[in-house]
Amino acid sequence: MKSLVINGPNLNMLGVREPDIYGRQTYDDLVAICKKAATELGYDEVEVFQSNHEGAIIDKIQEALGTFDGIVINPAAYTHTSVGILDALKAVALPAVEVHISAVEEREDFRQVSYARAACFATITGEGLEGYAHALRLLKDHLA
Ligand code: DQA
Repeated sequence: MKSLVINGPNLNMLGVREPDIYGRQTYDDLVAICKKAATELGYDEVEVFQSNHEGAIIDKIQEALGTFDGIVINPAAYTHTSVGILDALKAVALPAVEVHISAVEEREDFRQVSYARAACFATITGEGLEGYAHALRLLKDHLA
């Protein structure tokens, strides 16, 4: 069982970026949380990927086909704009879970739209970085 965790723009700035919203933990902490959770859940492999570029995220989703069993994705700002990421998720048709560190539903109007959500079987918001561990658990249950 192999999972791919994809993170969108500015998530590499965790720890520095708006700590009142996203906390003080860093991107390295996010990677460590995903690796620990994946090991505990019995995944054979987890790859954690981050890019600030929409096309690179789309390439990564396409490359997942035949390599990974499922995807956890925080498209970050592209959540609210990217039909391309939605179409890539639909194209590979791998089970996917959407994660947001913050409670997007309590934030600005422009964050209330999620294109990626239509291709995900679950969405987790407002659980901080532990939301990734939760998402990996849901994905594992879904794959089992
Ligand atoms: C985010 C929420 C998005 O609205 C925002 O653009 C992000 C991070 C989150 O994890 O809470 O970059 O996806």
